[in-house]
Amino acid sequence: MIEQKGLTVWFTGLSGAGKTTISRVVENELRSQGYKVEVLDGDVLRQCLTKGLGYSREDRDENVRRIGYVANLLTRNDVIVLVSVISPYRQIRNQMRLDTADFLEVYVNAPLEVCEQRDVKGLYKKARLGEIQNFTGIDDPYEAPLFPEVTCNTHLETIAESAGKVLRKMEELGYYL
Ligand code: PPS
Ligand code: MG
Repeated sequence: MIEQKGLTVWFTGLSGAGKTTISRVVENELRSQGYKVEVLDGDVLRQCLTKGLGYSREDRDENVRRIGYVANLLTRNDVIVLVSVISPYRQIRNQMRLDTADFLEVYVNAPLEVCEQRDVKGLYKKARLGEIQNFTGIDDPYEAPLFPEVTCNTHLETIAESAGKVLRKMEELGYYL
């Protein structure tokens, strides 16, 4: 058994920036080495834990708070938790940092144009057509982190490089051997 210390790795960024993709690669790498890992993905949890919440500031903050609460429970039981949520508001992200003993913020960055070009789920198109309102980056804000421990520039680096940056930072901080 690996001696592991709990940690919340918080991936924040626009829809389509690569939060889910990078966190899954990090998850697989850690799990293959025997670490206990959980992924808390906003897009998935909105079907259960945070079902019914919308995309107003209040609802997004409530979403982040609930997910952060679970992340904290797991973290203090020595699980490595990979949270991927847009979490567009700096204030609540900073609150999560304060509430969680071991916390590492990853800014998954790609220009809006690139995310919109990718449009994996076709949501940007719908937002542009006015079929969806309050879409982050289109008619809703995204406040980029000021001091993230890691920044992944997914328009400039490969998924493996981005995941590698996260793992290296975890290693540097003593969470990953
Ligand atoms: S938040 O802001 O942190 O509460 O968002 P999150 O829980 O991560 O959910 C984001 C996913 O919901 C889909 N979606 C939207 N995103 C942004 N704005 C609006 N209005 C919206 N409506 C639906 C979208 O698929 C997001 O998933 P990701 O993985 O980020 O692309
Ligand atoms: Mg996603």
